[in-house]
Amino acid sequence: MRRVPVALGERSYDVLIAPGLIAEAGERLAPFARNGRIVIVSDENVWKAQGATLERGLRPIAADLILIPPGEGSKSWASLGSLLDALLARGIERGDHIVAFGGGVVGDLVGFAAAILKRGCGFVQVPTSLLAQVDSSVGGKTGINVAAGKNMVGAFHHPALVLIDPDMLDTLPERERRAGYAEVAKYGLIGDAAFFDWCEANGRALLAGDSQVRQHAIATSVEAKAAIVAADERETSGRRALLNLGHTFGHALEAETGFSDLLLHGEAVAIGMAYAFQLSARLGLCPPGDAERVRDHLAAVGLPVAWSADPDALVAHMRHDKKATAGRITLILTRGIGQAFVDHNVDAEEIASFLSEVGEQPTHAA
Ligand SMILES: NC(=O)c1ccc[n+]([C@@H]2O[C@H](COP(=O)([O-])OP(=O)(O)OC[C@H]3O[C@@H](n4cnc5c(N)ncnc54)[C@H](O)[C@@H]3O)[C@@H](O)[C@H]2O)c1
Ligand SMILES: [Zn+2]
Repeated sequence: MRRVPVALGERSYDVLIAPGLIAEAGERLAPFARNGRIVIVSDENVWKAQGATLERGLRPIAADLILIPPGEGSKSWASLGSLLDALLARGIERGDHIVAFGGGVVGDLVGFAAAILKRGCGFVQVPTSLLAQVDSSVGGKTGINVAAGKNMVGAFHHPALVLIDPDMLDTLPERERRAGYAEVAKYGLIGDAAFFDWCEANGRALLAGDSQVRQHAIATSVEAKAAIVAADERETSGRRALLNLGHTFGHALEAETGFSDLLLHGEAVAIGMAYAFQLSARLGLCPPGDAERVRDHLAAVGLPVAWSADPDALVAHMRHDKKATAGRITLILTRGIGQAFVDHNVDAEEIASFLSEVGEQPTHAA
């Protein structure tokens, strides 16, 4: 078992990672149960695939289950309202803990509900998607999407514990696994060149389900995220902003494709990371060979690395402005693999001209 502490003073918590950990859920969650019961929130897909396994592992604790529809649509005011009502109907108190059993959608929604229910109750993350295991379950960002944009309403609210069982990924659809893998590779690209080397050697095995490889990738990712979050809990010093590598381009692509199934978040991030490296190379900041390596590796595991879209529209999204393309944009750029940095002063015209070149030959995930 790997234990990764997230050091945040009185808000500190542990991330436990082990294949088969779900079988010990009862023991691990016993301190959070009340009268032998615990409220579990999950989505219908996750519950169908892994609910029986969790219920077995929970014994003798009984699951008081609340199911939400799967998909990004559940990160909404409407779902938040029904979830809060359902939790209140179950008599949740401020000292209680709710278990979020699912991907990033369940984790973000439940975390936000916990942040505001009775002015804040506890919660435990039991992430079941690769993205949630390596990224969203750690760090305390919670929230929902509103008309103005994704994750625009939310709170920092840390879980009391994160239980990661990599075996949960056995039932995760392959495309979701690949998309989550983009966030794994991201940690190597941000600040750990040796881990990116490891990804190049082991990425395929990870996606194929090799248990040891999977555990190493998750633990390394969680350690990297925990260190960044501990150093910059509320994204004020610029350190946590590095986690946005590939995300400014990625969000623009997601917005331009209407947050639809055309591009999953991790797929958009893969394209965004390939772009961030290519743009850095073009600006003379990063060796062109590093940009090629990044693009080649992401493509080799089946992730998209380019997308054709209107460059001006993308730049407008990057500026969070529907019309303007002039001015400067903040981007995570890089001096090479493992050497990302925040640049607050990237020329929007330069980005537009770069995008008009790279967007011409789209490559899509298989
Ligand atoms: N809070 C953060 O710091 C943070 C960071 C990154 C992303 N996010 C958020 O995370 C969300 C994306 O998370 P996601 O990619 O996990 O999406 P998701 O929660 O929608 O899960 C993806 C799909 O896989 C299914 N699924 C999950 N686990 C499964 C399993 N073990 N077996 C079978 N099916 C399973 C889900 O039902 C869903 O259909 C986005 O809303 C994003 O904004 C949050
Ligand atoms: Zn992301």
